[in-house]
Amino acid sequence: MHIHANSSISWIVYLTTPHESARTAFRKPSGGGEFVFKNDRPSGHPNSETWVLPDAAAGTLVLYPGFLEHRVPPNEGQQRVTMALNAIPDRLDSLGYYIHFQ
Ligand SMILES: [Fe+2]
Repeated sequence: MHIHANSSISWIVYLTTPHESARTAFRKPSGGGEFVFKNDRPSGHPNSETWVLPDAAAGTLVLYPGFLEHRVPPNEGQQRVTMALNAIPDRLDSLGYYIHFQ
């Protein structure tokens, strides 16, 4: 499992249709949920603790927040080609509190 630190939005573009063994799996953040209403469902449902991307075909685009843990299990199929990108801001401005990254 890993995250994409400092990335506000990350995305994956599947350039080939992935084998079912190598579907990207996501997991909810492990902490900070004590004061949040939860609606956990069995594994596989988008509201479960873990969620595996359903069938994806070449050309599928998946967007997710960079803090969301995810992994790709070992590929048991043919070559898997994806393009992964991160949107990393060079500045943040929150109600006048401003920071610029160099
Ligand atoms: Fe990743």
